[in-house]
Amino acid sequence: ETGNVTLDVGYVNTASCQSAITYIDGGAGILRYRGYPIEQLAKGSTFLEVSYLLIYGELPTTQQLEEFTGKVQRHTMLQEDLKNLLSAFPRDAHPMSVLSAAVSALGTFYQDSLSITDKDQIELSTIRLLAKLPTIAAYAYKKSEGQPLLYPDNSLGLVENFLRLTFGFPAEKYDVDPVMAKALDQLFILHADHEQNCSASTVRLVGSAHANLFASVSAGIHALSGPLHGGANSAVLDMLGEIQRGDDSVETFMKKVKNKEDGVKLMGFGHRVYKNYDPRAAIVKQTMDELLKKLGVNDPLLDIALQLEEIALKDDYFVERKLYPNVDFYTGLIYKAMGFPTRMFTVLFAIGRLPGWVAQWREMMEDPATKIGRPRQIYIGETERQFVPLDKR
Ligand code: SDX
Repeated sequence: ETGNVTLDVGYVNTASCQSAITYIDGGAGILRYRGYPIEQLAKGSTFLEVSYLLIYGELPTTQQLEEFTGKVQRHTMLQEDLKNLLSAFPRDAHPMSVLSAAVSALGTFYQDSLSITDKDQIELSTIRLLAKLPTIAAYAYKKSEGQPLLYPDNSLGLVENFLRLTFGFPAEKYDVDPVMAKALDQLFILHADHEQNCSASTVRLVGSAHANLFASVSAGIHALSGPLHGGANSAVLDMLGEIQRGDDSVETFMKKVKNKEDGVKLMGFGHRVYKNYDPRAAIVKQTMDELLKKLGVNDPLLDIALQLEEIALKDDYFVERKLYPNVDFYTGLIYKAMGFPTRMFTVLFAIGRLPGWVAQWREMMEDPATKIGRPRQIYIGETERQFVPLDKR
């Protein structure tokens, strides 16, 4: 009687942009960066090499990689005022909030690299971000622990430097565990890009208004912080901890998930695109087995995770909905074994995802054909109606 029109449109699925960076076949569980299968890159490459591939489109030669590595190493330090800005945050600030604020602030400290058309400035902002994000992340952690900050040591690689800035102290030499560094390097590769996920599309959308790289990536960090996206790796550990501390058995917990009690979900399971086992999760699980054995870690939460997966892979509820472990299901157990607190897990995801965000932002700036479209909507509100003055309502 009010003239409302209800549209039965179902799910309108429109491609949001073209890109030549990452290919995913969700049904087959395929993931390729610039055509190279993730399994081969994870086993044979390094994070900086994959960052180069994503951003410039080709695997680097030895000389290209040395030059790229050298450039990144020379930019790992923050301007002192930016470093001091971080000390203004409260100790209990979530490190993802510190990360997004600091990346946004890069645009105020490094105003000589804000252009979206000048190739040298785009290159400089690229290198500055790749080099400084791990430093900012380590400082956010140190700040939350109330510990002193170290300066980067450019004789170390990017990941080793990050581990030393995070777990090192001025009073003593910190020896990076090569096993831990290699495992973290591989995890960063696995997170490096994933086509139009929520945070990458956010970076593109903000960049499509010709916002600079720092502003666009800062927006992407906010998107990643959501528990249904990058925040899931922390939410998995919280879920495993609640099961461990609670009275419910794993079986009872899974019944609650299937009954959707209190909106509880099996965190780390399911994916918008993968309706098969996330290829990254399979690699993470293998790395986790190897690392926990080498570190001599025997985590009871791992047993709970393995039980959850075993039940889910046989249960019709999950099989019918094509719910499999995604990249977040096991990564948190590795981060925990490395000594990172849960609040840092999504920050680690951001460090890994950065080259993908940069590559997609640059692709869009260089090739307008890959620009993300202005999202369209299906209007489902009131049809036209006449204004009613206040005294008549
Ligand atoms: C990442 O896009 C990317 O690429 C993201 C990412 C990346 O690299 O950038 O891969 C990283 O974000 C991985 C996803 C991390 N998030 C989580 O693990 C949170 C838990 N997962 C869910 O919230 C969910 O699976 C999504 C959001 C990830 C995907 O949801 P879908 O596939 O679009 O499915 P849906 O929300 O439409 O649900 C379909 C059905 C529903 O049941 P019914 O209403 O049909 O009865 O499946 C159920 C959902 O209730 N369901 C789950 C579930 N996920 C979906 N039930 C229990 N547990 C879950 N995790």
